[in-house]
Amino acid sequence: TPEMAKELKRQAAEQAAALVEDGMVVGLGTGSTAAFVVAALGRRHAEGLRFLGIPTSVATETQARSLGIPLTTFSEHAVVDMTIDGADEIERGSLDLIKGLGGALLREKIVAAASKRLVIVADESKLVDHLGAHTLLPVEVTPFGWESTARHLEKFGARISPRRNREGAFFVSDGGNLILDCTFPVIDDPGKMERDIRSVIGVVECGLFVGLATEAIVAGSDGVIRLTA
Ligand code: A5P
Repeated sequence: TPEMAKELKRQAAEQAAALVEDGMVVGLGTGSTAAFVVAALGRRHAEGLRFLGIPTSVATETQARSLGIPLTTFSEHAVVDMTIDGADEIERGSLDLIKGLGGALLREKIVAAASKRLVIVADESKLVDHLGAHTLLPVEVTPFGWESTARHLEKFGARISPRRNREGAFFVSDGGNLILDCTFPVIDDPGKMERDIRSVIGVVECGLFVGLATEAIVAGSDGVIRLTA
């Protein structure tokens, strides 16, 4: 049930938030699971833990500010000690990911790439044997010429639909870009697919996170498991 899934997300989030130590710079993820992490970190901040957050989206920044979490930027800190974020799919074994169904993939990827540790929090429904079987792959593209960018992406076998908001207009990311939701028949080599997609002019980033996650905390009906890459 949705209530149970929510409880599992909360359990994974609590365990991840407990990893944060005094003095850390912490990347704050985006999505419903990451929101539980930010809430738990707000509590730990109120209890006296000293850390600085780098939010991966406007939504997360708003939540963090409302809880009084002190924030920083890359102009002050080059290295993020630990980022805690959700994911849409987690490949068992490699911990390669699909992210970006929430539309924040570019900032999430920049923060992830600057992090010593990337801890993924999720309920067990996100664990898969192979990426892409159930989830679209979001690709962030510049608005100019997106139709041409989409045609190039189709050459890699993707079916493409530009993401729209509830009113039917194009969804615009925090970075002012469009998101193309791509369906591929299979993603058997995520690293190669990421390189292929990123080679297309007009692509800003894609939602494949290859070799970035160092660990995952996954809550299921049998308890919480911790996976390392
Ligand atoms: C946001 O852009 C995504 O990458 C999220 O990390 C992802 O959608 C997970 O969100 P939930 O925790 O809400 O499933």
